[in-house]
Amino acid sequence: MGALRWLSVAAAAASTVSALTPDQFISAPRRSEVVPNPSGDTGLFSTSQYSFDTHSSHTWWSLIDLKSGEISTLTNDSHVSEVIWLGSDASTVLYINNTNAQIPGAVELWISDTSSFANGYKAASLPANLLGIKSVVTDSGDVRYILRGKSYPNGTVYNDKLAATLPSSARIYDSIFPRHWDTWLTPISHAVFSGTLQNTPAEGGKAQYTGAETLKNLVNPVKGAESPFPPFGGNSDYDLSPDGKWVVFKSKAPQLPLANNTASYIYLVPHDGSAKAFAINGPDSAATPTGIEGDSSYPVFSPKSDKVAYFQMADREYESDRRTLYVYTIGSDETIPSLAKDWDRSPDSVKWVGSDNLVVTSEDLARTRLFSIPVTAGDDFKPTNFTDGGSVSAHYVLPDSTILVTGSAIWTNWNVYTASPSQSVIKTLASANEIDPELSGLGPADIDEFYYQGNWTTLHSWIIYPQGFDKTKTYPLALFIHGGPQGAWRDSWSTRWNPKVFADQGYVVIAPNPTGSTGFGDALTDAIQNNWGGAPYDDLVKAWQYVHDHLDFVDTDNGVAAGASYGAYMITWIQGSEFGRKFKALVSHDGSFIGDAMIATDELWFIEHDFNGTFWTTRDNYHNWDPSGPGRVLQFSTPQLVIHSDKDYRVPVSEGIALFNVLQERGVPSRFLNFPDEDHWVTGQENSLVWHQQVLGWLNRYSGVEKSNPDAVSLDDTVNPVVNINP
Ligand SMILES: *[C@@H]1O[C@H](CO)[C@@H](O)[C@H](O)[C@H]1NC(C)=O
Ligand SMILES: *[C@@H]1O[C@H](CO)[C@@H](O)[C@H](O)[C@H]1NC(C)=O
Ligand SMILES: *[C@@H]1O[C@H](CO)[C@@H](O)[C@H](O)[C@H]1NC(C)=O
Ligand SMILES: *[C@@H]1O[C@H](CO)[C@@H](O)[C@H](O)[C@H]1NC(C)=O
Ligand SMILES: *[C@@H]1O[C@H](CO)[C@@H](O)[C@H](O)[C@H]1NC(C)=O
Ligand SMILES: *[C@@H]1O[C@H](CO)[C@@H](O)[C@H](O)[C@H]1NC(C)=O
Ligand SMILES: *[C@@H]1O[C@H](CO)[C@@H](O)[C@H](O)[C@H]1NC(C)=O
Repeated sequence: MGALRWLSVAAAAASTVSALTPDQFISAPRRSEVVPNPSGDTGLFSTSQYSFDTHSSHTWWSLIDLKSGEISTLTNDSHVSEVIWLGSDASTVLYINNTNAQIPGAVELWISDTSSFANGYKAASLPANLLGIKSVVTDSGDVRYILRGKSYPNGTVYNDKLAATLPSSARIYDSIFPRHWDTWLTPISHAVFSGTLQNTPAEGGKAQYTGAETLKNLVNPVKGAESPFPPFGGNSDYDLSPDGKWVVFKSKAPQLPLANNTASYIYLVPHDGSAKAFAINGPDSAATPTGIEGDSSYPVFSPKSDKVAYFQMADREYESDRRTLYVYTIGSDETIPSLAKDWDRSPDSVKWVGSDNLVVTSEDLARTRLFSIPVTAGDDFKPTNFTDGGSVSAHYVLPDSTILVTGSAIWTNWNVYTASPSQSVIKTLASANEIDPELSGLGPADIDEFYYQGNWTTLHSWIIYPQGFDKTKTYPLALFIHGGPQGAWRDSWSTRWNPKVFADQGYVVIAPNPTGSTGFGDALTDAIQNNWGGAPYDDLVKAWQYVHDHLDFVDTDNGVAAGASYGAYMITWIQGSEFGRKFKALVSHDGSFIGDAMIATDELWFIEHDFNGTFWTTRDNYHNWDPSGPGRVLQFSTPQLVIHSDKDYRVPVSEGIALFNVLQERGVPSRFLNFPDEDHWVTGQENSLVWHQQVLGWLNRYSGVEKSNPDAVSLDDTVNPVVNINP
């Protein structure tokens, strides 16, 4: 019955401004970045929406008028899985049709006019389920494209549906890295493929493109290379030059072991694969800057196809080292110059504005902002931000050199606007909180921020208010602890750990950015190394004290705290400290528990950096920050919900079970929530709904919110059976 009540509250929300409930939040439309057409008058994007009525998702494609912001549907055909603009034509699109009339498990390329999408024609059949298409129309009139997919060791495109299966399920490994994130490694890798469509003009001279099924694997000739690297590699790991001649892609250093280093290079290769790809910043390149050996990312060709911009970190084992912008000139042996090298920020995406300027995104003071950097920028150049509020998720350069931005904020999951370095934000075209009934009532007034004195430096924290907030009343504290630990709570939308969903149960959410946080300069990020339970812990104690002393509307007597990954580690560290007694309930999601058990993680480079050495060279560091020590476990007494999923290979599920065992044997009220089909994150919508129901239900029960808010989510709402064999 509870579950029904909870769903019906959401249904009623369409017409009135109401709290953001978990099912509204999960079933709100999710839109992609907006990509402008070559003339800059129309943008293209997709929307997916999950329905708890049909238990399925549905995706469609839309156009947005970049003058008026008016949105219209381009196609609602479920066969269309990707759409991109084709050539310089402002109204022709190339799309991937996710079925193939001849080959099981394969797709087709189709071309259509945006004004009559139903009249598209098939341009090519592809041999497998390929994705991430990028294309150009060359001077000779052909279409050159690249896309990505899986590859056999011999370079042939791999099609899951046609692959042979073996009689045994055994997996055999001779090198470290048997599994990663949520997948066991197999001989099948990922590669970027190239293809061409010839123009065979139709009657009247109108372009008509067709191509063969054969694709060239551009990555496979480099022994050991893989691109994009799963699970987080994607479309930004490769690019096609505007003249169609060159392709760049990123691969992890093929000569180094995968598990214990982060080194990766940018490879340059002719589109037709006529020469083997060459690592422009690898050990064999004369142009490689000395001492720059870390992760490379985001290669992008200049408009004239003569240069490649990309980022690289210096350190070979540190995934959160600062990224610096480099610009390589094709064919040059001169050391690749860095731009704004001393800038104390770590930019992560870049676009060219003409040949002389670049615009990058970077985390900055708990947002993601745009910054302009000229190609002539020296080491001491200080880029200035020209966006404010919210976080940029994608940016494109329009023909007039202004920037089309897709972004989000804590109060909207999608907004679209134009901006420029000289004018800042020019015009807001659309924002989801003004379109979607699920998000109605959300707005900039939902959030606030403060700075406070932490353990060794000044720190930032967000405040997220509940719906209908009245500062003369009090609301229990919900303390959010972020993971990473090199990460940050930003003014951006999240489909996991969305602070507004928690606030709207009746809390004031406090989301601090303690030691280890990104976007405030290297010193803060780097200071968490070998310091997991040190300064960041004290920073959180001091955040609590600040809230207690300065924010009268926060009830710290009935507070709760929650976190995932490193944030969950910290929850358990807090549970074993005096500070743990300040909370009525705790929630830890996929946290590490036993210091020594960290060696079972997939990414060894991470623990070897964070604990400043290997399992055998600096074992004391693994022990010093171990939340499972007997002295700490004896203090456990605050009710704790432990969540851990089976496919989490970063922090294996045994860590959650170990923690639950200890809590139960110590007689601490506790519950274990497990998803057999989720990894480090819970992303399935039905699982996410149960996750929210259990997490919010747990917090609401112990904080008293269950009693004070008749609409609050309750633990009793669950439809999954609770197993309690030995009460
Ligand atoms: C698309 O089609 C679905 C049915 O498949 C319908 O429910 C939905 O309203 C349509 N959406 C648009 C934007 O046309
Ligand atoms: C997708 O491809 C199939 C198979 O060729 C075809 O029947 C269907 O009409 C195509 N749909 C679209 C939208 O292109
Ligand atoms: C590559 O290997 C696959 C799987 O063994 C095989 O089916 C395919 O024929 C091979 N391709 C070539 C060109 O040898
Ligand atoms: C990384 O792993 C390789 C191969 O397993 C090993 O030779 C190398 O010493 C390791 N590096 C470190 C820093 O332990
Ligand atoms: C840049 O960021 C600062 C805060 O750090 C903000 O006050 C300012 O408005 C931003 N500038 C622009 C042009 O948006
Ligand atoms: C900083 O944090 C550490 C570890 O929690 C603590 O020992 C130390 O006293 C703190 N320093 C200050 C100035 O608060
Ligand atoms: C890491 O180890 C190096 C070498 O032993 C040492 O110089 C450095 O101070 C250590 N850093 C931290 C944060 O423990």
